[in-house]
Amino acid sequence: MKKILLINTSNRKKTTYNLLLSIEKILKNKGFKTEIINLHDYKIQFCKGCEVCVLKGNCFIKDDSSLIMKKIVESDGLVIGTPVYLNNMSGILKAFIDRTCSWFHRSEVYQKPTLLLANTQGSGIKSTLNSIEEVMIQWGVCLGGTVSRNGRNFNRPIEEKEVTKFIDLINSNGKSYSPSFKEVYTYNIQRTLATNVFPVDKDYWENKGWIDNTYFPGSKLSFVKKIYGNSIYKILCKVIKPIK
Ligand SMILES: Cc1cc2nc3c(=O)[nH]c(=O)nc-3n(C[C@H](O)[C@H](O)[C@H](O)COP(=O)(O)O)c2cc1C
Repeated sequence: MKKILLINTSNRKKTTYNLLLSIEKILKNKGFKTEIINLHDYKIQFCKGCEVCVLKGNCFIKDDSSLIMKKIVESDGLVIGTPVYLNNMSGILKAFIDRTCSWFHRSEVYQKPTLLLANTQGSGIKSTLNSIEEVMIQWGVCLGGTVSRNGRNFNRPIEEKEVTKFIDLINSNGKSYSPSFKEVYTYNIQRTLATNVFPVDKDYWENKGWIDNTYFPGSKLSFVKKIYGNSIYKILCKVIKPIK
């Protein structure tokens, strides 16, 4: 049975949590196993800024970030829910995301079907969802859509059609996902860094068999996007030179 992880990043079990429960109900009806976690129940320290995770491998801070990361990796689908704080995601979500910096270079969650949920009294839905989506593109997940609510429609239950794309992606294991130009571009920046800059990334990308690919294997890439991705890669490899 496929399992879906839903993460509440509000300190309260209120609007975000209730909307996640509404999504969970649909997922359960579709036969998925689910788990909702509250990020505030875990110890998430701030990133120390040492860049060891990027340059060498793992983060040395001992807290619950690695546990949450493991839970995400082991899930078949991910739902991230946030309240809008000052037109952006909640602080704890950003603190956690900073701790996943190694996934920007060496993703362990590539092709993971992911749904984003945001809610607000009135402002900031677009900027909040865009901000999280930027990170998701770097993680290399399959974007399964967004769900949002504001003060005027908090109580409107989530409809199945709002999560159809997400469910389809879970059922196909994220294969046959068609990435956008931006996702192809982002992949090829990291592909360049793996080729020319970071030896740790190079090993990882070679072991995964990604270095010769224009996007994650198994994805649906049009001829035009293939040409686009490979051209970006060739140009970037000339511009971003190996560090001597
Ligand atoms: C620190 C903080 C900042 C907020 N910033 C905004 C904001 O920029 N725009 C807005 O419309 N609502 C803002 N809100 C309201 C919340 O987004 C809104 O009440 C949300 O539904 C709370 O979700 P929760 O019940 O899951 O905690 C803010 C609330 C807090 C506590």
